Amino acid sequence: MTSPISNDFIQQLTLTEKASLVSGKDFWFTAGIDRLNLEKIMMTDGPSGLRKQANSADALGLNQSVKAITFPASALTAASFDRKALTTLGENLGEAAKNEGVSVLLGPGINMKRSPLAGRNFEYFSEDPLVAGELGAAYVNGVQSQGVGVSVKHFAANNRENQRFTSSSNMSERALREIYLAAFERIVVTAHPATLMCSYNAINGTLNSQNFKLLTKILRDEWGFDGVVMSDWGAVADHVAALRAGLDLEMPGKGPQSTTEIVDAVKHGDLTEATLDIAVRRVLKMVHDWHVDSQPKPYDKDAQHEFARKLAANSMVLLKNDDHTLPLANAKDVAILGELADKPRYQGGGSSHVNAYRITTPLEIAEAAGNTNYQAAYSLDATAVDADQIAKAVTAAKQAAKVVIFAGVPEALESEGFDKTSMALPANQNELIKQVAAVNAHTIVVLQNGSAIEMPWADDVAAILETYLAGEAVGEATWDVLTGAVNPSGKLAESFPIKLADNPTFGTFNASPLTETYHDDIFVGYRYYDLKQRAVRFPFGYGLSYTHFSYHDLTVTDKDQNVMVSYQITNDGDVAGQETSQIYVANHASLVEMPVKELRDFAKTELAAGETKTITRTLPRRAFSWYNAETSNWQMDDGDYTIFVGRSSRNLDLQQDVTLAWNPQTGAPVTPNTYIGAIMARPDLRAALEETDIAKSFDALAGNDTNSEMMKNMPLRSAIMVGVSVDQLNAFLKLANQSK
Ligand code: BGC
Repeated sequence: MTSPISNDFIQQLTLTEKASLVSGKDFWFTAGIDRLNLEKIMMTDGPSGLRKQANSADALGLNQSVKAITFPASALTAASFDRKALTTLGENLGEAAKNEGVSVLLGPGINMKRSPLAGRNFEYFSEDPLVAGELGAAYVNGVQSQGVGVSVKHFAANNRENQRFTSSSNMSERALREIYLAAFERIVVTAHPATLMCSYNAINGTLNSQNFKLLTKILRDEWGFDGVVMSDWGAVADHVAALRAGLDLEMPGKGPQSTTEIVDAVKHGDLTEATLDIAVRRVLKMVHDWHVDSQPKPYDKDAQHEFARKLAANSMVLLKNDDHTLPLANAKDVAILGELADKPRYQGGGSSHVNAYRITTPLEIAEAAGNTNYQAAYSLDATAVDADQIAKAVTAAKQAAKVVIFAGVPEALESEGFDKTSMALPANQNELIKQVAAVNAHTIVVLQNGSAIEMPWADDVAAILETYLAGEAVGEATWDVLTGAVNPSGKLAESFPIKLADNPTFGTFNASPLTETYHDDIFVGYRYYDLKQRAVRFPFGYGLSYTHFSYHDLTVTDKDQNVMVSYQITNDGDVAGQETSQIYVANHASLVEMPVKELRDFAKTELAAGETKTITRTLPRRAFSWYNAETSNWQMDDGDYTIFVGRSSRNLDLQQDVTLAWNPQTGAPVTPNTYIGAIMARPDLRAALEETDIAKSFDALAGNDTNSEMMKNMPLRSAIMVGVSVDQLNAFLKLANQSK
């Protein structure tokens, strides 16, 4: 057979065959061409397990799929801050996909978390593009190392679920580049994903499926992406416009109509065959690169379940642990309250919903350890307080040495397809925690939720463990951490505000069915809370351990247009642990709005009790740059920066200032509008000021405090007000720009 990626092959295709290739054959398959032995390939959701539908197909997880391991949701795996673990997760998913005959896995999802209400936050990594980009790239590398392609989704700015098919995400170019595209860019450039999935929404009025700037100019021309762009399921409104904009594959296909509309468009001159050929070529290359030869065969699901357990335990975040309440000696001698212990929330709803291989509940693990002290204490089907149920729970809590309450967001309130309306736990759960904490000083709350929640009782309980949606090994992993078999090392990849109203999107999120205005601009998550100096419940990057780490010996070196950051961490406690250290940069050099600091790198380090390790990381130019929309460039400005290293965004142990001068010393051109303050600050312009005798006038003013400040705020052209002549100004402008 001729190779499907050769010119010969394409020349053999009829127009109808070409048109058939740029739409899915059905829900999960590309079109094959029997006459030319071109096979079809299968794609399947992701991102936290395989949702391979064998019979009836749908995009919302309604119909059953084959059994597969349900790994923790991305909200939890992100908290691992562990690139290696994400690569192993990808390898596991790739192995499962390959053995099920699946060529492309639809994940990871890497949209930014700007509102805690966004319905799909559980499926995404972080509020920070570096975290989402680094972990997303690690995941992609893992999957693709197994010979299975990925589809990185949902490209881009798909930050709400309500009216997701039509709503327009309206924002500045700078916010788009620095926040909403940066993680995609990092993944595309470093991990070369097979495909990207364009999202349903529009950006600044243009639907993403027909957004030439997004799909072609930025993605391909700027970032060099050469894979397939497929649509989210049903995201194509105008197939021809989509192809013209750079979309390659409409998913799922609409049947014969998808083919006819393309054939007609070519015949009527609305679409050139050359444009169609580009998409066809990319689809053929995808089929060629990622087709799976073998028939489905068994793989080691028990080993994958064990990995799911390890990944979950290593990602859970210990938010509070007064007086060493945790770890518990065992799972037996505690009162267990909360229906979520018995019916845990371990995955999100919608297209990512996996038919779990083997669920272990927290209750069954506790019972297996001999615990007989459980009460449901609330009903997941209700939100209203049931006084009798709570009274019984309080009685049990009074008699127990310690209490573990399982609390969280019921599935009905959190899923793909709609946004939440509140960050609160149901009233019956909040009341239970409040009343139990009042009678037992050793109350531990274990949380199961997909996104940040409000915790009005946080100061009243002794310990809080955030387990998010921990996957099918939720029971084992939770007790691994509660009993200290695993020392927790997760850190929050999103801020937990005290209340919803503290979040910058409060009051505007979902306000309009048509548009979502990104008033928060680049100030998303900690970038906002830091800027406004707002207290948060738990900051970005925060998480405790059963041991204690100290940070010391920071050195910062400016070398070859990189900044080398080196520091030491010591495990001061008596158990082994892992610590995620974070490097933030504060930019004092750029004369534009800037976050107080931004995460520019992180490292997870394993340390035996008493051990010290040196961590050395390199920050490239981009870590000191911002996106200048006027010049369409990432701009790095010479000047002062501070490097912070620490254990969370609000607990920075070490810091050092550094002055960078990386740009060629040409100096900016001087114009009549250049401010006198800027001119006076440039030693290279002194000679020109003196030669034209302007220095005399300026120096006289600079001698007086008030005049000096006023003068700095005057443009050069206004110097005539202080006695400088037009001839002098012109002579100065000539000299100043000549020397450049
Ligand atoms: C979701 C995608 C998913 C697709 C296929 C869509 O509704 O947004 O994430 O991959 O369905 O199930």
